[in-house]
This record gives sequence, structure tokens and C-alpha cells, in this order.
Amino acid sequence: MLTENNNILHRQVFICQGKSCTYAGAKYVLKAFQKNPIPHVEIIPCGCLRQCGNGPMVIIQPENSWYWRVHPDEVSLLKDQHLIKNCPVISMLYSKH
Ligand code: FES
Repeated sequence: MLTENNNILHRQVFICQGKSCTYAGAKYVLKAFQKNPIPHVEIIPCGCLRQCGNGPMVIIQPENSWYWRVHPDEVSLLKDQHLIKNCPVISMLYSKH
């Protein structure tokens, strides 16, 4: 995706791998993001995001979009809508952080 200045937008996707999110299936969410990589999108496993019990938590930067209770089957939607079409998935956004 291009920015307003026609520069390439580099995104980072942080996927919590803390204990609570791991218990909720975060490693499968991570694997789903790592499958079929998208250019200019870096997938980063990270530690606890202090939102335990609401995971698996995923943050997309630089937009600072937080997604919660992400299921591996929903990752393709996030990739297609948010990372490729630049349209956040409103119904999955987390607003309590
Ligand atoms: S373990 Fe993921 S938010 Fe704490």
C-alpha cells in the first residue's frame, strides 16, 4: 500500500504470545499470519500486551489497530481487508486498551 506521499507503507503486525493468549490459540494465529507473507508487512511475535483474557491479541502498526479474540480462521480476513485493502475490520477491533 502507498501513503499519501506515494511512499510504500511498511506495516508491523504484533501477535501476543504471552501465556493467556497462547492458551487461547495465539500460536495458530501467528502461523496463519506467517503463511503467505504480504510484501512490506513484518510479522512479529511479542510478549504480553496486558490485555490477558481478551486474546489472542493482535496489533497492526502504524495505525495502532488492536484486534482481540482473533481466531486463526479470521486471519485471512484481516490480511485481505486491513493489510491489502487498507480497510480495518471494525467488528473485530478492540477499544479497551
Ligand atoms: S498474554 Fe496476551 S495480552 Fe497478556
